[in-house]
Amino acid sequence: MNNLGQKVIYQIYPKSFYDSNNDGIGDLPGIIQKLDYIKKLNVDMIWFNPFFVSPQHDNGYDIANYYEIDSRFGTMADFEELVAKLKEINVGVMLDMVFNHCSTDHEWFQKALAGDEKYRKFFYLRKAKPDGSLPNNWQSKFGGSAWAKFGDTDYYYLHLYDPTQADLDWHNPEVRKEIYRVINFWRQKGVHGFRFDVINVTGKDERLIDSTGDIAQEKSLYTDTPIVHQYLKEMNQASFGQDPNSITVGEMSSTTIANSIKYSNPNEHELSMVFNFHHLKVDYQNGEKWTKAPFDFMKLKQLFTQWQEEMDQGAGWNALFWNNHDQPWALSRFGDTGIYREKSAEMLATTIHLMRGTPYIYMGEEIGMIDPDYSSIDSYIDVECKNAFKELQQKGISEKQAFDIVKSKSRDNSRVPMHWDSSQYAGFSSVTPWLMPTDQDQINVKDELAHGEIFNYYQNLIKLRHNEELISDGHIRMFLKDDPQVLAYERFLDDQPSKLLVFNNFYGQSHTVTLPKAFQKQAAQVVISNYDQQDINLQETLTLRPYEALAIKI
Ligand code: NOJ
Repeated sequence: MNNLGQKVIYQIYPKSFYDSNNDGIGDLPGIIQKLDYIKKLNVDMIWFNPFFVSPQHDNGYDIANYYEIDSRFGTMADFEELVAKLKEINVGVMLDMVFNHCSTDHEWFQKALAGDEKYRKFFYLRKAKPDGSLPNNWQSKFGGSAWAKFGDTDYYYLHLYDPTQADLDWHNPEVRKEIYRVINFWRQKGVHGFRFDVINVTGKDERLIDSTGDIAQEKSLYTDTPIVHQYLKEMNQASFGQDPNSITVGEMSSTTIANSIKYSNPNEHELSMVFNFHHLKVDYQNGEKWTKAPFDFMKLKQLFTQWQEEMDQGAGWNALFWNNHDQPWALSRFGDTGIYREKSAEMLATTIHLMRGTPYIYMGEEIGMIDPDYSSIDSYIDVECKNAFKELQQKGISEKQAFDIVKSKSRDNSRVPMHWDSSQYAGFSSVTPWLMPTDQDQINVKDELAHGEIFNYYQNLIKLRHNEELISDGHIRMFLKDDPQVLAYERFLDDQPSKLLVFNNFYGQSHTVTLPKAFQKQAAQVVISNYDQQDINLQETLTLRPYEALAIKI
């Protein structure tokens, strides 16, 4: 066993971590130069976003060669050095495997275009309907139709994402064989961790029938279909399942708890854990991403309750996270970017780090980074938000409003270069970076390490996960479920009388809660708190200060 519950995983977006050769783009030698920083945090594994050969239409999620490092990021020798140096400090490597689609620059697609029958069968190629309309009415997740013309032929190819990301047909066993070969190649290089991009959309209903036009119904035609579980079992057996130390995570788009249990219950031999995104949609108005609305705290609580408790009951395993390269900063969405920036960053961290699952920290989260303050759409790069900006205006929304929405939701928010110091390019590069930092004078690593409290708080949370069995292995049960301001849960082990109680105040006002009877009149030892806090004798009520996080053992 690899003690999944004791691990903490750090995510690095290589393009934005550190630029060692001053071309404005982060790179692998840059990461090597910053290993002391990672060591200080004491994480167990690093998930790297893709750095394989790619034309970068979707920042590396459009892979043109799965076996080579893109020269923008370095060389294979740099990668090998990085793996070896990380091993010295006991940190594992998790690679990002993007197999739902490949770049249209990939030789498979190019050979298919040239008419090679073998490779034509790698993709979903279909002719227009007899009336000349597209093969079906599915929408790309990045806007517009999911079909694009296949060269000069009568065919179209399916792309659930950008037109330069052609969906691979997993029904073809040759495709799956190629995929396992890629995983095994990286395993031979000492890689034990794999993140599988949108893996639950790889089992499309082969008939590719029209949807009713309802987006949820449309997704059901290609999401979480039974065959995905079969594919995962096969992949597990043919590759990482041969390694008892492997750690895998599937990125699950619009998934369900029942499926997630199956994906991650060890008896199923599929994956170690899942990323689900339901808790990050609580600030979507009517389920629509491209809207701007305050977050719904009660919905957030209800989702955490359901996912935490039911995954526990079904012996599934969650990845715990607030941030990643596809999300605006959690601190800007659920916390306070003003006077309570530090307290709210720590509260958010406590909320998920003490839950049941494996926590992920996205680079910069540990110093409390927030969304950049751009004033023009030209400052953004991401294809998804550029498309959304146009589509919103086509729907009649004013340019200003469309910009406000994009500003609050763009994926570029978190892709901004890491703030190492307060200088013009945030100590990331000495030339203009690919994406500009804006608030590095307020928030940066140098200042944080000198006199901030967030980094240190994260170190303590990581230490707790490494050492406290209630956190790494305990069950979970939520309480104070109807409280409008506090998210609270208990962690417990079947064979131990002591419990961990965790309280998180999500707002900038103090708030008093009435404790469940079972917890009243008990001596409690403070395990972690983001305020100065002595051990307490619990009474009937407990008052939490603004954005206070408190974990106690009774
Ligand atoms: C999910 C990745 O996290 C995202 O960045 C990417 O655009 C899509 N999958 C498509 O690969």
